[in-house]
Amino acid sequence: MSTKTKIASLIIVAVLCATAAFIWAWQPAIPAINGDGEIRPDPQRISQGQRVVALGDCMICHTSKSGQPYAGGLPLRTPFGTIYTSNITPDPDTGIGHWSLTAFRRAIRHGVSRDGHLLYPAFPYIHYTQMSDTDIEAAYHYLMSRTPVSYIPPDNELLLPLRFRPMLAFWNLLYLRPGERPITSADQQTERGRYLVNSLGHCASCHSALNFIGGEAKPALGGGSVDGWAAPALTALAQGSTPWTQQQLETYLRTGISVQHGAAKGPMRPVTDRLAEASDADVAAIAKYVMSIQLTAASAPPPAASSQQLAPQGAMLFSAACASCHSASAPMHMSAQRPSLALSRSVSGDTPVNLIQTILGGVPWAIPHSAIYMPPFADVLTDEQIASIAQYVRVDIGKQPPWQNLPQQITRARKEMQP
Ligand code: HEC
Ligand code: HEC
Ligand code: HEC
Repeated sequence: MSTKTKIASLIIVAVLCATAAFIWAWQPAIPAINGDGEIRPDPQRISQGQRVVALGDCMICHTSKSGQPYAGGLPLRTPFGTIYTSNITPDPDTGIGHWSLTAFRRAIRHGVSRDGHLLYPAFPYIHYTQMSDTDIEAAYHYLMSRTPVSYIPPDNELLLPLRFRPMLAFWNLLYLRPGERPITSADQQTERGRYLVNSLGHCASCHSALNFIGGEAKPALGGGSVDGWAAPALTALAQGSTPWTQQQLETYLRTGISVQHGAAKGPMRPVTDRLAEASDADVAAIAKYVMSIQLTAASAPPPAASSQQLAPQGAMLFSAACASCHSASAPMHMSAQRPSLALSRSVSGDTPVNLIQTILGGVPWAIPHSAIYMPPFADVLTDEQIASIAQYVRVDIGKQPPWQNLPQQITRARKEMQP
């Protein structure tokens, strides 16, 4: 075969492969509905849908900082670039006003938009795919009864090859197992909890590590990271010096604070805010399931000996900047039962990132939690001061071996802070 024929046959093979991939990834458009009259609002389904949507955190992602609820435009930063969430209000031109229930169900179960294009897995459809038909339908009725907002989110800023959406078909082949899952536990409450954690709650999208193509690594819920925060393993809550009980977990998930373990911060805070809207029975079921998947304590490695000198100014800075709220005699402790910093996983855990993030960003003010507020220190303290406070909190309050590489971790955390 001459070189020319070789090249020609290679091109033909490549074109055939690309066509095959395209046909395989191709999904038909689902006809538009006109929006008026075709969806009869059903009050019972709508109120059921409100709970489904709260459990699924739909509003957290689909609302931008100063935007209208569900109108989208929130930037999600991934290692592959920035993806903006879609407008899922019933606006016919810029939202999902023309979507039938069939189109909505396909998006939830298969990650495909109404016009047939594949959606990026930043939309956690690999978890929502397990939702029941009843829950999908209720969510649809609820969203279709929201106020339509005319808004077009910004274009995604992604690495070039990833702008070609049919490639997502390969990703789906690896990670998407569409549809509901068979029942695995005879206990109804545990079963309900498993459903909520794995489908609507999509806890694994933060609490599992991601591999280099953004797939969730096994074991599930073994700990991950999100937006510069560490999301601890949900399978090791029964380990450590202050093991969680089911009751404590339930209180934490519903109120965002546990007297024994601390408050929900960073990306976990909106999750507990939404769970406050869920039913008590559902939150109890989540807690029961999570406690049922605890691993037995592995022998913890001995703490690494440290050569790092403790910064002596840590104690002084702590009493100036933090003690008014965090010392045992601070009014905050008297008014509401506040956990000692020593009990917080961000102080006693394996990584300082959550402590650093808390000091940099504080704990934002939010009604109805008006007593839970901590100011951000990012513009007040230097990296060196934050490092010495963090080391003081770790060693003197937490009674743990000092952290290594604090300055580098602080520099990185500042870079990762949301603008
Ligand atoms: C972690 C963030 C996140 C959460 C939580 C989330 N979404 Fe999304 N969703 C996205 C992103 C990002 C997209 C856009 C994906 C793309 O453009 O490929 C999207 C797209 C969609 C679409 C497709 C819209 C279109 O025009 O193609 C629908 C429908 C949708 N989401 C519904 C929901 C529902 C219902 C929930 C709650 C059960 C939910 N989403 C929760 C991030 C999220
Ligand atoms: C105005 C009061 C206030 C000040 C000042 C303050 N904090 Fe906080 N801090 C809070 C509140 C409120 C929380 C949320 C937890 C709670 O309610 O106990 C919190 C949470 C924390 C947490 C997480 C604890 C957990 O629940 O997991 C850490 C760590 C922390 N603060 C460290 C510091 C450090 C270090 C400083 C000084 C640089 C500081 N705080 C200054 C009020 C304050
Ligand atoms: C958007 C990402 C995200 C989602 C979704 C999420 N979490 Fe979290 N979670 C975090 C982060 C980050 C932390 C650590 C920050 C903190 O402790 O406040 C955390 C902390 C926790 C903690 C405290 C652990 C400890 O040892 O202090 C528990 C318990 C928890 N999450 C349970 C859940 C459950 C159950 C779900 C699903 C219903 C869930 N999370 C969904 C990000 C998330």
